[in-house]
Amino acid sequence: MLDTVKRPQSSAATHCTSSDYETMYRRSVEDSDAFWLGQAERLDWVKAPTKGGEWSFDPVDIAWFADGKLNLCHNAVDRHAASRPDATALIFEPDDPQSAGRTLTYRELQSEVVAMANALKAIGVKKGDRVTIYMPMIIEGVLAMLACARLGAIHSVVFGGFSPEALAGRIEGCGSRFVVTADEGLRGSKRVPLKTNVDAALAEPDHDTPLDGMLVVKHTGADVPMTEGRDHWYHDVRSDADCPCEPMDAEDPLFILYTSGSTGKPKGVVHTTGGYGVWTATTFNYIFDYQPGEVFWCSADIGWVTGHSYIAYGPLLNGATQVIFEGVPNYPDHGRFWQVVEKHKVNILYTAPTAIRALMREGDDFVTRHDRSSLRLLGTVGEPINPEAWRWYFEVVGEERCPIIDTWWQTETGGCMLTTLPGAHDMKPGSAGLPFFGVRLQLVDNDGAVLEGANEGNLCITHSWPGQARTVYGDHDRFVQTYFSTYTGKYFTGDGCKRDEDGYYRITGRVDDVINVSGHRMGTAEVESALVSHPLVAESAVVGYSHDIKGQGIYCYVTLNAGEDGSDALYTELRNHVRTEIGPIASPDHIQFTDGLPKTRSGKIMRRILRKIAENDYGSLGDTSTLADPSLVERLIEGRQNR
Ligand code: WTA
Repeated sequence: MLDTVKRPQSSAATHCTSSDYETMYRRSVEDSDAFWLGQAERLDWVKAPTKGGEWSFDPVDIAWFADGKLNLCHNAVDRHAASRPDATALIFEPDDPQSAGRTLTYRELQSEVVAMANALKAIGVKKGDRVTIYMPMIIEGVLAMLACARLGAIHSVVFGGFSPEALAGRIEGCGSRFVVTADEGLRGSKRVPLKTNVDAALAEPDHDTPLDGMLVVKHTGADVPMTEGRDHWYHDVRSDADCPCEPMDAEDPLFILYTSGSTGKPKGVVHTTGGYGVWTATTFNYIFDYQPGEVFWCSADIGWVTGHSYIAYGPLLNGATQVIFEGVPNYPDHGRFWQVVEKHKVNILYTAPTAIRALMREGDDFVTRHDRSSLRLLGTVGEPINPEAWRWYFEVVGEERCPIIDTWWQTETGGCMLTTLPGAHDMKPGSAGLPFFGVRLQLVDNDGAVLEGANEGNLCITHSWPGQARTVYGDHDRFVQTYFSTYTGKYFTGDGCKRDEDGYYRITGRVDDVINVSGHRMGTAEVESALVSHPLVAESAVVGYSHDIKGQGIYCYVTLNAGEDGSDALYTELRNHVRTEIGPIASPDHIQFTDGLPKTRSGKIMRRILRKIAENDYGSLGDTSTLADPSLVERLIEGRQNR
């Protein structure tokens, strides 16, 4: 049983008290359509919807607000530019604290989005086209997303830390013929060669779709090669011409975002316009309890879903003021986050447990030397937060003054699903909390039997919600197979979860072959396929293990081709090989060379054993009698790396 921490009485008025929560939650499930059509009124519609949810999980077919028409760029930008033109929309804080930042009011944001949309048009982008955005964390990244929404083009943002190889797969995967990038990115004073990476991606041997156009934003001023006729500097093609917002059907796709699963290549998860817009606008309003004039800061990158929902869309749909941060938590020193909080008087901070753990390790002084009296609410997302890190965040960072929201959600859910609400609920460190409006959960055992009351099981969602992903781009069967086939008629999250007697949910981690490294989702299969693509590797198995800072680390077992030996040089080469194939976030923490992998007699790799050995917990390996070669386990234990 986890301790309860009483919710601090925050000074601001709140959008939701505990009795509101009870009433609203009940209404959201008992009278779902009326509830969500009511929430949909947060947005301006070209044609207001009369239909709520029309969906089935067997067969899988999901729609919300289907007869409505709207444009999310209008909702995020133009309507605020009209009503509150001088309100601050974006505050850019560059990587180097000595460099000049930049602030845009909503009126300026509108001019900038129009300029970007015209630039996209100039290179040939039209409604329905897919546009790959491979950008650093600068304002133009957000502009590119909103400009796509303005034109009705579908954005596919690829995290700037992914390698050319990974980028190529994501360009090819959705048949994108347009890329928006920058000369270089900056992270902790290091330069990231984005434009060069795009060129390398397009030169990949299996990349055969030519690009129609590329926009390049000048950021660092680095000298980069430009291909005549294909590549255009953004500053050369931007224009102030009139550029109206395209009216979109609620179910028109807004974006594709690639995410990892337990098998195969990353999937392009598709979110649509109306439901996603309503979900991000509503969750932002209630969960962050945003009050007019407050400064919000989400430290995620736009390459992940958190940066989509709680940078590009949720805050702007609510007309909020927010910080866009290019840098990293530990540059120039470990006080950088708190210096940004002090400088911009941040009221609401949303970050990841991995950052909190890393900063906690550096001591309190980096925090306390900065004024944090503006902070009112602290949030976390991306992975389970351990109670020690939670307490440090609560006590040291927030001085026990700020409620903490631990928000559980996924790329596929579009926005937060489980959390406490700051004005309504007490908190339990380590536990995400209660279902948001409209979220109906079930815990089931491995056979699919529903578990009631305080219990532990696999987390499923039984009813659709507006922010739910609709499909996997170009492969609806894969969508059905991945999420709805384990337990027919239910969406299976892939997470294990405990529910206590108060109905609070605590996520225990993935129960599939997905690992969560510093809050980044990674399929073990992806790392395995990167390893076996090396000419000397015969076979590999990759598992996660507990890591103090990263949450999980990457442990690789590698079998080499006959006659090859695992040397230190090869170890380094394989690590680099994975970085080249996927990106630095997939760098193996340990590689163990082995003469074989433990398999059942039918040839199935026994991952349970490999996980235990990686955890350095080999005392309780369970039944190994079904192994084809039982002596192999002894050799694996002998050679283990995580001692
Ligand atoms: C994990 C990130 C515990 C979980 C928004 C989920 C969490 C996966 C939490 C989705 C949390 C996310 N507590 N675990 N508050 N938030 N997760 O798609 O395993 O990058 O399935 O979305 O992160 O990762 P994704």
